[in-house]
Amino acid sequence: MTISSDEAKRRAGEKAVEYISDEMVVGLGTGSTVYYFLLKLGERCRQGLQVVGVPTSVATERIAREQGIPLADSWSAVDIVVDGADEIDPRLNLIKGMGGALVREKIVAQAAGRMIVVGDESKVVKRLGTNFPLPVEVIPFGWEATAVQIRQLGLGPVLRRQGNEPVRTDNGNYLLECHTGPIENPEELARSLEGIAGVVGHGLFLGLATTAIIGSDQGTRILQITPDKDEAPRM
Ligand code: A5P
Repeated sequence: MTISSDEAKRRAGEKAVEYISDEMVVGLGTGSTVYYFLLKLGERCRQGLQVVGVPTSVATERIAREQGIPLADSWSAVDIVVDGADEIDPRLNLIKGMGGALVREKIVAQAAGRMIVVGDESKVVKRLGTNFPLPVEVIPFGWEATAVQIRQLGLGPVLRRQGNEPVRTDNGNYLLECHTGPIENPEELARSLEGIAGVVGHGLFLGLATTAIIGSDQGTRILQITPDKDEAPRM
């Protein structure tokens, strides 16, 4: 039986709740796959599961409140974060940010002891940059100059708009969608983007996720990597 993409996302999102236990501080990702995680987590909280959530976007915060998931007043670390992705490569490196929440998502992912990524089969790629543009969040001041710098890296940045207006992130910034094509060296590209003054953050999540739950016709399949402690810092 072939299931819809939405059903695959539901399977992955719900499965992720099995990784959550009492007393955890849980990072709550953003997007249509995480939505199912939030519904199930809310159900578990109403049944007595004791956790506090850290939402990665205004949209997720609203859903979490509606579902009765308690939210942390203040936090500096989270035990685990569950988040979606636009692309997932064999090393579980990710492109994220089509939902525009990439900076908050990365702050939470870097603060997390463990990152679980959830998605359907369409998210699994051999090389990042194959299907989606790379979102880059930039401050509005001088954004066109920032775009020139990004273009000099060989990328094709396009300002994300809704109608005639630039889309603003939850942080009040703009998003440049960068058409990369398959990315040869994600670490090098990440470093180059981080060297540009107007860049607040980018959608390359490298060395952060260690588990992926992929919803599929058969149920879910789990992809797992063991982090190498000697690897370069997480980006
Ligand atoms: C939000 O900014 C994104 O990083 C999402 O996590 C990503 O776009 C995946 O979203 P879906 O689960 O809706 O495909």
